[in-house]
Amino acid sequence: MSSEELLMIPGPVPLHPRVLKAMSRPMINHRSPEFAKILDKCVSVLKDAFQTKNDVLVLSGSGTAGMEAAISNVVKGDNVVTIVNGKFGERFKEIVALYGNPIPVEYEWGSPIELNDVEDALEKGVSAITMVHNETSVGMLNPAKEVGALARKYDALFIMDGISSIGGVDVPVDKWGVDIAIIGSQKCLAAPPGLAAIAVSERAWERMKAKSPYYLDLKAYRKYAAKEPAQTPYTPAVPLFFGLHEALRMVKEEGIHERIERHRKCAEAVRKAMDAMDLQLFPRLNDISRYSNTVSAMVMPDGIDDKQLRGGMKKRGVLIAGGQAHLKDKIFRIGHMGNVSAKEILTTLEALESTLSELGVKAEGGVVAAKEAFG
Ligand SMILES: Cc1ncc(COP(=O)(O)O)c(C=O)c1O
Repeated sequence: MSSEELLMIPGPVPLHPRVLKAMSRPMINHRSPEFAKILDKCVSVLKDAFQTKNDVLVLSGSGTAGMEAAISNVVKGDNVVTIVNGKFGERFKEIVALYGNPIPVEYEWGSPIELNDVEDALEKGVSAITMVHNETSVGMLNPAKEVGALARKYDALFIMDGISSIGGVDVPVDKWGVDIAIIGSQKCLAAPPGLAAIAVSERAWERMKAKSPYYLDLKAYRKYAAKEPAQTPYTPAVPLFFGLHEALRMVKEEGIHERIERHRKCAEAVRKAMDAMDLQLFPRLNDISRYSNTVSAMVMPDGIDDKQLRGGMKKRGVLIAGGQAHLKDKIFRIGHMGNVSAKEILTTLEALESTLSELGVKAEGGVVAAKEAFG
């Protein structure tokens, strides 16, 4: 990828030069006070992003490692409700199937969840429920607060993938009763890919299985985090921690609520632009607040395919994402997470208008509508 290309996929996101510079620091001892300071500082800002008082642990592994850590520590042959309405909900179900028995509550990808179905499944007697908060594959938010309340009612642990929402969307983990929540470093926090942060409630600790996985044993992570100096059980991906530390410093400088508001504004501008261009958002939702503020998914215009659309965008220096699995050629996605601002959104929309025009699709007015939305 040339450095001139603008990365507008839903993670990884472009890294700020400060973050890139931080990662090129000389190596340090990972069991030193110097590393402990970095780890402690990361955890403190992550707690603000999660809006939690629970333990927060940072794993060297991508978001999926966080998902597998969550399941493998608390599920051993248990029944688990798995909500699926996109690719990552599906992934949670597959992971649960390795450690226990999924009780799927499944919908077409991009269709909203019915809380009645969730409650029916919980009534079957389960120890946990999994849900993806921001379904990146389809650009929609699932009802975390409501599912959290149901999980409490049925005394099930609520395990939530907040990988592409936390840090860009308001996610009060404690208030919503999320027992295990996960963030991916490469999404809204604008840190390098390869780290997963996981927030674990007291209730979840009480239900940890005695025999956990080895590398992803959360009890070991907690034990080592409590040492003096704080550390991780195994050698962490130190340069990624340098990057995360600097990215979180930037999150703190901006303010988490300001960051969430910036994501909201960018998403709103993209949606207004799509409306002006007569491009249809892929999820058909009555409740506007359920559209994702970190990624937008649109129906592919008639008569063109993924290769043409994304090829045309790439030619213009902008990388966007296609649809995953059976949604390939059916949708395209624009990521608007991390350090994204009006500038990147407008550049992307300009490229989209020009690409579509070249492909013979009449879709104009997006840039103007977005500019208006930004005010
Ligand atoms: C909602 C969600 N869950 C899980 C993942 C998987 O994360 P990773 O690719 O970091 O393992 C992603 C990545 O796109 C995601 O968006």
